[in-house]
Amino acid sequence: MSSADSSQAVFPKEFIWGAATSSYQIEGAWNEDGKGESIWDRFCHTPGRIANGDTGDVACDHYHRWREDVALMRELGLRAYRFSISWPRLLPEGRGRVNQPGLDFYNRLVDALLDAGITPFATLYHWDLPQALQDKGGWPARATAEAFAEYADLASRSLGDRVKHWMPLNEPWVSAFIGYLEGRHAPGHTSLDEALAAAHHLLLGHGWAVPVIRHNAPSAQVGIALNLTTVVPASPSQADAEAARVRDGLINRWFLDPLAGRGYPQDMVRHFGRPMPFVQSGDLEAIAAPLNFLGVNYYARTIARSDAVPESENDPPTVLPNAERTAVGWEVCPEELYELLMRLHRDYAFRALLITENGAAYDDQVGPDGRVDDPRRISYLKRHLQAAARALAEGVPLRGYFVWSLLDNFEWALGYGPRFGIIYVDYATQRRIPKSSAYWYRRVMESNRVVD
Ligand code: FCB
Repeated sequence: MSSADSSQAVFPKEFIWGAATSSYQIEGAWNEDGKGESIWDRFCHTPGRIANGDTGDVACDHYHRWREDVALMRELGLRAYRFSISWPRLLPEGRGRVNQPGLDFYNRLVDALLDAGITPFATLYHWDLPQALQDKGGWPARATAEAFAEYADLASRSLGDRVKHWMPLNEPWVSAFIGYLEGRHAPGHTSLDEALAAAHHLLLGHGWAVPVIRHNAPSAQVGIALNLTTVVPASPSQADAEAARVRDGLINRWFLDPLAGRGYPQDMVRHFGRPMPFVQSGDLEAIAAPLNFLGVNYYARTIARSDAVPESENDPPTVLPNAERTAVGWEVCPEELYELLMRLHRDYAFRALLITENGAAYDDQVGPDGRVDDPRRISYLKRHLQAAARALAEGVPLRGYFVWSLLDNFEWALGYGPRFGIIYVDYATQRRIPKSSAYWYRRVMESNRVVD
């Protein structure tokens, strides 16, 4: 099937169509109704960390506007909604004392979703660690994994009678390596040893959470959402091929291998060359708890370059001057989604795959007629869905697709500049305007095919 032939891009009738968000990016109400401080509250309140000095203090004010947001989801015909639960809203100190109003919020949200015929997919950790736990060492400390299992217990005991799809973690690579090594995300540290310990304790917390959730939510489907990518060397040189192996090891295999029961990839253990005393007996077995699905967050391929090769030969903007890019500079490469899905199925064979995030930021504007027309987002989504359909047709057990994001929202260190939503948010008034991509996506969901 050629990628231009969208009429062939058909999905099964039980395909899960959804949209995704996360708590810190949309909820606001950062200190209301007993919520504790998270590491993102602290990070955003530290001058110089976030573009434009933006914070998630108010964000999309979803904590107050959730009814309207669920009504919009229903109007758009979403079958599923992936949201995350704010850990410090439930447990202000990270463990121990429960904040009932926080639980009430998610209880109401879940009930409203079910009333609207929308299946809730809950993520437990989309990066907003309680600051109280960071003060005790954060993810580099093993106690945080224990606290996470307790939090998973509380959340699944409270919601597990109604929520049947769970992801303990979203993108642990980002939490560990951008938060503790690159320092661009909360808590803003720059230590490889901390990042490696954080990655392990994230995975361990996940592994401990899986059976807890299954116990509390019988028949639950439990998975994980990873940021996954294909990695392409920037030049044919040996040095860039080597850089690509390391990049793939760092982003993909460091998480996929232990989850698939293979332990940490040995070439990467050698590459890091650091002791890993935090890996204790039984940990790898816990991390390998069988999953019902692997969640794939895909935005772009990664081009790997070695500093040993002259920049003129392997610098991506130089080598690819005409690459199509989104407003945040990410390259648009839909065919790589096909490659990624095929590779995941071939190399790891998880029971099912879900695309838990895919989408694009563009400089959307409200037109004189009050509408927001975003043809480039439609084109991005269309081509990625065609690639997904191709993988499905070739035997990949792809069960669903969630567009990132339902709403324009707080894009972490980039603040409110990038707009990823299929619904425009006017932050001054909190008015929501579905973009043309939202109406296009409604037709896709209705017909289970990629429409024009
Ligand atoms: C992913 C995150 C999500 C959002 C998108 C653009 O890495 O999971 O919160 O920021 O990128």
